[in-house]
Amino acid sequence: MIINFNNNNSVSFISHIQKLINFNFRIMPEKNTIMQISDNILEHAFKKIKSISIKAAVFNKIINTVFNSFCILSLLISFSACSPSSTNNVEPPASPAKSAVSDVSFNFDTKTVKLNSGYEMPVIGLGTYSLKDDICVNSVSAALKNGYRLIDTAYIYHNEESVGKGIRESGVPREEIFITTKLYMNQYADAENAINEALKKLDVDYIDLILLHHPGAHDIKAYKAMEKAVSEGKIRSIGLSNYYIDELEDFLPQITIMPALIQNEIHPYYQENEVIKYMLEKGIVMEAWYPLGGRGHTAELFNNETIAEIAKVHNRSSAQIILRWHLQKGVVAIPGSSNPEHIKENMNIFDFELTAEDMKKINSLDRNEKHDWY
Ligand SMILES: NC(=O)c1ccc[n+]([C@@H]2O[C@H](COP(=O)([O-])OP(=O)(O)OC[C@H]3O[C@@H](n4cnc5c(N)ncnc54)[C@H](OP(=O)(O)O)[C@@H]3O)[C@@H](O)[C@H]2O)c1
Repeated sequence: MIINFNNNNSVSFISHIQKLINFNFRIMPEKNTIMQISDNILEHAFKKIKSISIKAAVFNKIINTVFNSFCILSLLISFSACSPSSTNNVEPPASPAKSAVSDVSFNFDTKTVKLNSGYEMPVIGLGTYSLKDDICVNSVSAALKNGYRLIDTAYIYHNEESVGKGIRESGVPREEIFITTKLYMNQYADAENAINEALKKLDVDYIDLILLHHPGAHDIKAYKAMEKAVSEGKIRSIGLSNYYIDELEDFLPQITIMPALIQNEIHPYYQENEVIKYMLEKGIVMEAWYPLGGRGHTAELFNNETIAEIAKVHNRSSAQIILRWHLQKGVVAIPGSSNPEHIKENMNIFDFELTAEDMKKINSLDRNEKHDWY
């Protein structure tokens, strides 16, 4: 489930947390599972509250809401003694993930980066969130015809079949294309089946990269299923999405294959510099979702005075400046678009370079302003 909310709007933020809790009660009928997921979501909400600048009165309201929700959870916990946590349910790995120190710097000639799995991945791709049916087929096909070789989809976008169709319609050979998809939280308990389902929907023999979409109950179990699928040749590389430093530190000791990539929200107003530094030092490639700020927020970024000025100097669009900024920071970008002109424009960012001064100016725009909750 993807819910948009404006973090300047306290009412929607509070109802958002409530929605999350209700959502988890609704989809997880088993008592223990309800608590694990809700607890996890609350913990996440706490972290986000800490990181978002909000007025004191609003903060109090949120704390009250979270506190009330926490009380409900505590009551539930009290009548479910001895429930093992999701991560305790699975066996420990033979050996924890090695800190693969691979060089994750970008090759601007080949437009790729080498993942710690040994596979090359394009540094710019097409995001397909919200693209459906023929719009998705045509966007994927247009992207591939315009030189894209990376397509990002997910189970929860309900468009894996359309992505597969777009790939076939493009005429570009499968082996030249890097496909990323993601398992959603409701698939974690039976990830093996979910992986087979993704292969079938995309109609391919292997998937280049599968990510766990969010931290959640059974995520270790799901990751282990992905590790097994790597050994079976069904997946080439595996990674995570919406995991930050704390989540990763919990996660790494329990798995064997180091994630090759982490996909998180990153754009000039939400830069996650600490997270990027931490991941790159571990040899994990960072990838930005909402690289242009996300639908409904792009105009704010495109019209930002600093970005518009830099765009004018380089005779480029604001979108191109932002995407080039991502790449020069060492972050893979997957802008979403159904507009063939935009798709073309977004790939056309390899024949100019931002100066150190341009980079510094865009770096200074960070507002720690998330455009989605996770
Ligand atoms: N892992 C996660 O949790 C997660 C969450 C969100 C998204 N994602 C992934 O990240 C991808 C990117 O995010 P997103 O698509 O939501 O947001 P985005 O790429 O930041 O922005 C997409 C918006 O930008 C517009 N746009 C694209 N290129 C443009 C250009 N050159 N000039 C003007 N407007 C342009 C698009 O409109 P037009 O269609 O008109 O071009 C669309 O409205 C998604 O598609 C999805 O694959 C992952």
